[in-house]
Amino acid sequence: MITPHKIYELIAPELVQVEEELRGYTHSGIGPISEIGDYLLNAGGKRIRPALLLLTAKMLGPVTPTVIRLAAVVEFIHNATLVHDDIIDAADTRRGRPSTNSRWGNSMTVLAGDWLYMQSFAVALREKNLDVLHTLIEITQKMVEGELLQLTLLGKSKVTQEQILDIVERKTAYLFSGCMKLPALAAGLNHGASERLGNVGKCLGMAFQLVDDILDLSSSKEILGKPVASDLKEGKMTLPMYFAMQDSQPEEVTKIEAVLDERDFRSVAAQEILALVEKRDALNRTRNVAEEYARRAIGALQEFPHSIYRDVLVSIPEFVINRTA
Ligand code: IPE
Ligand code: IPE
Ligand code: MG
Ligand code: MG
Repeated sequence: MITPHKIYELIAPELVQVEEELRGYTHSGIGPISEIGDYLLNAGGKRIRPALLLLTAKMLGPVTPTVIRLAAVVEFIHNATLVHDDIIDAADTRRGRPSTNSRWGNSMTVLAGDWLYMQSFAVALREKNLDVLHTLIEITQKMVEGELLQLTLLGKSKVTQEQILDIVERKTAYLFSGCMKLPALAAGLNHGASERLGNVGKCLGMAFQLVDDILDLSSSKEILGKPVASDLKEGKMTLPMYFAMQDSQPEEVTKIEAVLDERDFRSVAAQEILALVEKRDALNRTRNVAEEYARRAIGALQEFPHSIYRDVLVSIPEFVINRTA
């Protein structure tokens, strides 16, 4: 049986190379940049994006230095997004430690984030592959658009499912899409095949973020390394909260809006919100949407030649759906 442990074992040597590659990216003569960069990388993280990129590359052919570099670049971009995201969300904990903004302050952290983004592109430029650069730029712009769209809706309870899914796609799914498209570009696959692999990644990313939104309401800080029930407090209507609000009584809407307004569980306790989530079966309904994306990802993988790596990729949607951390 394929287990997450076995999957990571399959790419263990390559992941070691990716870590070595990443260590080289934080060198800067300016103290806070190296300190913030190293602090983030040393905090761990699941490395799911480089893992996905490596597995896709292995399905398509040999792992070249380009593949290692691209795997490091997607993880580095991810870290840069987290740095800015934690400032925007005023988050004080990330990966079980104080967030970079709470340690270094917003001003230093925002600049370090800019530097990390630029470093990602400077490294990617070494590949001299315009399609790769174009994809990375698109991913990053979509991510920023997603964060901005989210800000325009912040504190609002009346959002549509389409708006929520649009944000999820931009802020998370595009980067996952890149994790499967970039190795296709590096392997010289034709446009159609690279796009289709990109779509598999996008579906996976949708499922991943939707599960993240579920875990925010069902997990614990110890497991996640970040506080739970914080999305609503941050003013965000996620898909579980959207379902929790559907067909609700006016006094229930008032409760949700109070948390969105106060940005805190002050006049309304977290338990009351969790009771609404439970009453409307909101977590299962969100899980169903995530599972639909997972099914699409699995279906689209069938066109690729059978190999152990394809089997592993086919198993990943299930792990994403059932993940607890
Ligand atoms: C966190 O991503 C941000 C989201 C897209 C939900 P991860 O859950 O992959 O974070 P790390 O890298 O493992 O810390
Ligand atoms: C995830 O966004 C970070 C990005 C994809 C930019 P969230 O704000 O929803 O995720 P967490 O909860 O901080 O990890
Ligand atoms: Mg956040
Ligand atoms: Mg955010």
